[in-house]
Amino acid sequence: MSLNPTDSRLLQAYRRASPRSAEAFDRACRSMPGGAKGAYYYPPYPLQVTRAEGCRLFDHDGNCYLDFANHHTAQILGHGHPAVIEAVQQQVRRGIAVGAPMGIETALAEEICRRVGSIDKLRFCNSGTEATLHAVRLARGFTGREKIAKFEGGYHGSHDAVEVSVAPPVGLAGPADAPRSVAGTGGLAPHATDEVVILPYGDAAAVDRLVGQHCDQLACVLFDPKVGMYETSCEFAQTVRRITERYRVLLILDEVVSFRLAPGGYQELANVTPDLTTLGKLIGGGFPVGAVGGRHDIMALFDNTAAATGFGQSGTFSAHPVAMAAGLATLEQLDAEAFNQLNQLGSRLRRELAMRFARADQPWQIVGEGSLFSLYPAREIVGDYRAAAAVDRSPVREAFAHCLGAGVFLNHNLVMNALSLATGVAEVEHLVAAWETLVGPVTRQVDGVGRPVTETR
Ligand SMILES: Cc1ncc(COP(=O)(O)O)c(C=O)c1O
Repeated sequence: MSLNPTDSRLLQAYRRASPRSAEAFDRACRSMPGGAKGAYYYPPYPLQVTRAEGCRLFDHDGNCYLDFANHHTAQILGHGHPAVIEAVQQQVRRGIAVGAPMGIETALAEEICRRVGSIDKLRFCNSGTEATLHAVRLARGFTGREKIAKFEGGYHGSHDAVEVSVAPPVGLAGPADAPRSVAGTGGLAPHATDEVVILPYGDAAAVDRLVGQHCDQLACVLFDPKVGMYETSCEFAQTVRRITERYRVLLILDEVVSFRLAPGGYQELANVTPDLTTLGKLIGGGFPVGAVGGRHDIMALFDNTAAATGFGQSGTFSAHPVAMAAGLATLEQLDAEAFNQLNQLGSRLRRELAMRFARADQPWQIVGEGSLFSLYPAREIVGDYRAAAAVDRSPVREAFAHCLGAGVFLNHNLVMNALSLATGVAEVEHLVAAWETLVGPVTRQVDGVGRPVTETR
């Protein structure tokens, strides 16, 4: 283990606690650029997890962490839920991948159609990326129009149509109410950005104007409600629906993350009926999965049984039987009571932490909804991409290292964390206590919603 003298006390403690992770990272870098997928990296090296159980992760050095990241929000039951393990084992014994339908995909499709009113039919694929790729193609095919609109700061996967204006440098991104389309990665097709109209999150008037301006060329608006990441409102989702209806543009609701909010997803909560919905993450029970579903007349483009439609959706591992079995077992656990439990625990966590931040008079905030939450070192409400981009993130690294030292695992940027059904009140209290030591002692009295008592008298 080499200690870097320029590291802070917390980073030095991290290095001392995790020498085997450092070794494993060095080894990984020899065969994979950057050691692994980008989302896993944080300096000086990511923890290497050897085992996961319920709400806990264990690293190579024998440390235990309470998991509040839950595999990019996908692990809604926690790790190794017995019903999922049992379903997976049974499916593995029946057949892992057999090059023919096995019926388990139909059972999962039926369950999703039953839960989500707007989904008449759906198709499975391997990721959220594939789901939005196929949704965009369906929208283009159905409308005969080429362009799509998406929101600034929205992430919908890594294909050319959507990896645009995901986290653009604000200096390149144009005016807030008429954002420019900025490539999100090198290597996009030369005109990829020209095909995408960028909308500002939360600004109904600008969305109306931009969709109206481009509606003759727009196939769809792709919308992720951003719950868990920004301060959001169901009213905005309803407004986006009204605008897309008015201009006869399809609405694709990306519920890859937000499906974890209610039995029928965010659309049930917000009372919004999209034309198409994209799903991923939790519907695979921890295995790679994606799905696109919606109105039967649009989904019919994928039905080549009577005559060729000119549209296809395939994939060697699409609707993989083991993922289908794990997904079905997961959904079977997720009744209204389960969502209630998750959402109440999420509210408790947000209330408790907001109170600690207010009492310590520290510039931190927690935003979120249901079981999702993000932490920002800022006082101003983070309600859209520009507000999130304006936050000075320099305290984040230390806060993350502090949490690891306290046995708490969050996403390393502290954004888009999630509770699982394996998380209990005791674990939430542990997280709150870890933050209490970080933000320091009480410096002022606050009322029940965190307002300074003196100011409210
Ligand atoms: C809202 C949203 N859509 C799509 C995706 C892409 O899903 P995947 O990573 O499975 O390709 C993500 C991934 O985080 C997402 O958050």
